[in-house]
Amino acid sequence: MFAGRPRFVRNGILLMAVILTLWHLQLIPQRPSSEWTRHEHYMNHNASSSQYPEPKSSFNWSSINFRYPPHNSTRLPSPGRPLPRIQHRFGVEQPIAAKKQMERMLQVKEVFLRAWQGYKKFAWKQDALLPISGRGREQFSGWAATLVDSLDTLWIMGLRDEFDEAVAAVAEIDFGSSTSNRVNIFETNIRYLGGLLAAYDLSGREVLLKKAVELGDLIYAGFNTENGMPVDFLNFHSAKSGEGLVVEGSVVSASPGTLSLELAHLSQVTGDPKYYSAVSQVMDVFYQGQSKTSVPGVWPMNVNMMAKDVIHGSTFTLGGCADSLYEYLPKMHQLLRGGEPKYEAMSKMFLKTADRHFLFRPMLPKEDDILISGNVNVDEKGNPVLDPETEHLTCFVGGMFGLAGKLFNNADDVETGVKLTNGCVYAYRAFPTGMMPERIDLAPPEWKSHLPKGFTSAKDPRYLLRPEAIESVFYSYRITGRREFQDAAWDMFTAIAKGTETAYANAAVLDVTIDGGKLPLEDYMESFWLAETLKYFYLIFAPPDFISLDDYVLNTEAHPFKLTK
Ligand SMILES: *[C@@H]1O[C@H](CO)[C@@H](O)[C@H](O)[C@H]1NC(C)=O
Ligand SMILES: *[C@@H]1O[C@H](CO)[C@@H](O)[C@H](O)[C@H]1NC(C)=O
Ligand SMILES: *[C@@H]1O[C@H](CO)[C@@H](O)[C@H](O)[C@H]1NC(C)=O
Repeated sequence: MFAGRPRFVRNGILLMAVILTLWHLQLIPQRPSSEWTRHEHYMNHNASSSQYPEPKSSFNWSSINFRYPPHNSTRLPSPGRPLPRIQHRFGVEQPIAAKKQMERMLQVKEVFLRAWQGYKKFAWKQDALLPISGRGREQFSGWAATLVDSLDTLWIMGLRDEFDEAVAAVAEIDFGSSTSNRVNIFETNIRYLGGLLAAYDLSGREVLLKKAVELGDLIYAGFNTENGMPVDFLNFHSAKSGEGLVVEGSVVSASPGTLSLELAHLSQVTGDPKYYSAVSQVMDVFYQGQSKTSVPGVWPMNVNMMAKDVIHGSTFTLGGCADSLYEYLPKMHQLLRGGEPKYEAMSKMFLKTADRHFLFRPMLPKEDDILISGNVNVDEKGNPVLDPETEHLTCFVGGMFGLAGKLFNNADDVETGVKLTNGCVYAYRAFPTGMMPERIDLAPPEWKSHLPKGFTSAKDPRYLLRPEAIESVFYSYRITGRREFQDAAWDMFTAIAKGTETAYANAAVLDVTIDGGKLPLEDYMESFWLAETLKYFYLIFAPPDFISLDDYVLNTEAHPFKLTK
């Protein structure tokens, strides 16, 4: 599709005609002041318009007789003081500037629609599209992961017919059977449950809530353990029997640490406190252990939920394996509107530790004032030692610092978030393809002499269609209002759209450090390409009060949950 762009640009008049037509078709509001009436219309719940078959699964997940009934007496807290404003107060935009962003937004939508059509044609109702060979693959139990993950993006982009068709398909998903006997609770929670909840919040379609409750009860079945901690992988058959499950000894901390937002929100929308109550037990374990680790404020990358041990361990990261455990601390504060003080306490302690031990200013040729988040290992003497390696997954940290800085009135944290975001933007620009590798080493400030400046190596040169960098660019834009973030996003988008394009959709790149020529691609398109990456790209060019960060909190798969007022 991008091959067609130069011709498109040459025909400037045609372009204008197209834009004006779209404008009149109300795809775009005619004035920034009447901001997006069509989108507001989408936001109106209209449950009566849902005429879908009664959802049915071959197993009723709420009918299990638990051997170990989960803790069920913790109630959702009532809200605390009103939260501070998160978003910058944007003024009315000049028509010329608005038009430019609108054009960008529509190009993002085109890339999305093309990939969605590829999925529909070759992998409909399967978990993922193989975007080069034009086939499908099951990866997450076979419940149409890409379809469920994309629902809210379809709605946000105004693709109403595609949305309706997808919701009809959701009604037919059977959560009573799985292509794998081991169900990944983390992925099921963030992609499927998160996707259903957000699509329900946006559209009000009852069938989505019913399916969310089915899945919520499936995840809840994972708490049927002696100590009330959830399993990492659900053995499908044992879970159905209710006989009781055994918690794994060692798991990555993000896994048990990333159930809170979805389960709390499920309790909010259903009024059934059991989901929140069960997950509160998990977060209490993290709360009690936070100051007792060898780097107080953060938890080791691996934790042992069987022993409720989140203290022992000497490897620490804010990136993959841990990331969303930290991401959800300020987000839980926001979702619960400050009603549970633990999340504020945990957030603040974590942010201080992250700032002190993990963030560094790499040595760069032009001495750009950016920050990078590295890893920390504890040496034999018990001292934390910085490992100046970073990865694409860690790029969410900038957005998290920004959001937390706003929530807790800390301007320094907001500025830190901007510098971290710029660190990832820098990393995109530093490579010839305009994309950041999956994993890189950097030169920390104390390395002064002979070493090459800046990046020392790309440990893993792939780009896997990941969203974390644009996620932070989006947060930084919405929080500070600085235009430069939209321009950075545009550079990133054009590089990614060009480098990942296949005949049917977009694919992961095997090496982004190559200069020139056709890039080697992998025949896989993760569902988060449609759920997250393209959603953030779309939203950064959309009018800023659309999916405002003061109205929604986004889960770690970019699914927006509506905040209660
Ligand atoms: C809601 O749905 C009904 C039935 O499809 C339709 O007649 C009505 O116009 C819709 N209302 C709104 C506000 O969209
Ligand atoms: C599932 O089981 C619960 C508890 O036994 C029951 O209340 C509910 O009606 C059942 N749902 C369906 C769809 O059969
Ligand atoms: C709540 O927990 C208690 C104690 O484990 C159990 O007896 C009871 O059945 C549970 N109630 C619900 C509604 O699950």
